[in-house]
Amino acid sequence: MRKPFLAANWKMNKTVKEGLEFLEAFLPAIKGIEGRDVVIAPPFTALHALSNALERESCSVALAAQNMHHEEKGAYTGEISPVMLNELGARWVILGHSERRHIFGEQDDVISKKVTSAIRHGIGPILCIGETLEQREAGNTFSVLRNQVDSGLADVSPDDIVKVVLAYEPVWAIGTGKTASPEQAQEAHAFVRGLLASKYGSAVAEQIRILYGGSVKPSNASELLAKPDVDGALVGGAALEPDSFAGIVTCQIA
Ligand code: PGA
Repeated sequence: MRKPFLAANWKMNKTVKEGLEFLEAFLPAIKGIEGRDVVIAPPFTALHALSNALERESCSVALAAQNMHHEEKGAYTGEISPVMLNELGARWVILGHSERRHIFGEQDDVISKKVTSAIRHGIGPILCIGETLEQREAGNTFSVLRNQVDSGLADVSPDDIVKVVLAYEPVWAIGTGKTASPEQAQEAHAFVRGLLASKYGSAVAEQIRILYGGSVKPSNASELLAKPDVDGALVGGAALEPDSFAGIVTCQIA
């Protein structure tokens, strides 16, 4: 069975001090929860301090970075490499988030390089995919998802694909308060699992976790996660408050 995966994407929010304060309230609130992967993606600047704090608590919450350059080092002003992330204790990295694609112009070929580089360095990629409202209304959701999956995973071998987590995040649902209905999420997730099955075989596809992201809150997490192909959530706004993210992490999963 696929272990539920609940991840906080803090985006460009929280100083080191605010991140540590979050942990102080959040860790007691999820105490005793088992059988779920809980991941926090703070800004790069807070990774080191949070990693130390989690180690002190011997806590199973893992850290993710929100982006990464695919090279190990070099003349890439302003970028952070997988080697650096390893040193900071990031086990995961969010790649191809829609804000990276749409605000910073990241293209599929670069995202694909990042995915394979992360795997090579032992960091689990959380590959984000999802259609815009315009693409959905034009009836292109599935073709957009197919292109993003095909290109994002172009160089990922059958041995490595199980290290990847996918996140379906319809762009129209991110930060808008407009969540995809559980049925819309299930339809997209089942389609993506089908793509994985045709690339890697259905036994492998059954092991890969596909998260939903886009206005997930404590009040809608359970119904989304109840869907058979929704294996977790990538949470932005509702993961900024400890109680709210704890409510999602501890939600009932039918
Ligand atoms: P949101 O963001 O929960 O604020 O919609 C999700 C995301 O961008 O990962």
